[in-house]
Amino acid sequence: MKMKILLLFSILTIPAIVVFYSSSWISSVYQESFAPRVNESLCACQKCMMEYEPWFSALMKASPEPFLTPENNVSLEDFKWYQSIQSDRRSFSVYNTTVNKLFQIIPHSNDFTKPGPDRCTTCAVVGNSGNLKGSHYGPLIDFHDIVIRINQGPTKGYERHVGNKTTHRVMFPVSATNLDNSTHLVLFAFKIRDLEWLIKTFTQRKDAESGLKANKNLVMILNPAFMKYVHLNWLGRKGQYPSTGFLTLIFSLYMCDEVSLFGFGADKKGIWNHYFEAVQLSLWRKTGNHPGSVEASMIRELHMRKKIYLYKGMYR
Ligand code: C5P
Repeated sequence: MKMKILLLFSILTIPAIVVFYSSSWISSVYQESFAPRVNESLCACQKCMMEYEPWFSALMKASPEPFLTPENNVSLEDFKWYQSIQSDRRSFSVYNTTVNKLFQIIPHSNDFTKPGPDRCTTCAVVGNSGNLKGSHYGPLIDFHDIVIRINQGPTKGYERHVGNKTTHRVMFPVSATNLDNSTHLVLFAFKIRDLEWLIKTFTQRKDAESGLKANKNLVMILNPAFMKYVHLNWLGRKGQYPSTGFLTLIFSLYMCDEVSLFGFGADKKGIWNHYFEAVQLSLWRKTGNHPGSVEASMIRELHMRKKIYLYKGMYR
């Protein structure tokens, strides 16, 4: 009798355990990796992102998957947060239908390799701060395996200070720029309409004038649940929602073994100015809806704890 009960218990529980663990590689990779371990090689770099550090590891372990896939769509609770940052009142089911439609058009892969003893991925995350002007960081930025640029952030004419390699470009519809065939389009969809924009972009006629040039096989979409996680866990809910640059920095911590940060830092008046244009009147709101000073102190903390290297450029 005992044997039968044991057999029945195993039949019922083993598949559930298997499904639970295979559903999220964040839990399988990070929750284990961010535990204290000794004498083990975590990556092939000199210093690895995955090295245990209590403050950092606790933050990283709480993360959902950074990128959307059809399998890891958001919960109703995450969706409620997502709705709170947009004026669109459409329902959770409209959101889900839109995401499903999107994944019929673009491939599902989130295209980043998991950390391991043979991997050393170095990343440059390049913000748009005026501190890059005159910095001569160009060759140093290009030396990284992955170079992530944000919004318009141009390279042409600024190569000496910002470099010219772009492997990933983060954007949302208003800041969209054409990409070459080998650059990843990383969409930050701050509203349902932004997802609809991507569908339109890849379904309209190729010769349409308004069409964006980008390789649809290299699209990555930031998970709204990840945006919420960054807002709550990293920024203590300060500001309306995190800036594009800060979200980019935090997802790079998952993608890279070493992260160098360039082009982050407000000017003397606390304004997020750009290296490629004079301060516009609209920027007099300083750092917009975003908690600029909280983000800056988190960036300093990451630098101090040697998890990233912050290049301050011309603002020292
Ligand atoms: O202005 P924009 O959003 O295009 O810049 C990209 C990111 O670079 C911002 O979201 C912000 O995180 C960062 N930035 C900064 N200091 C500036 C300008 C931008 O830290 N002066």
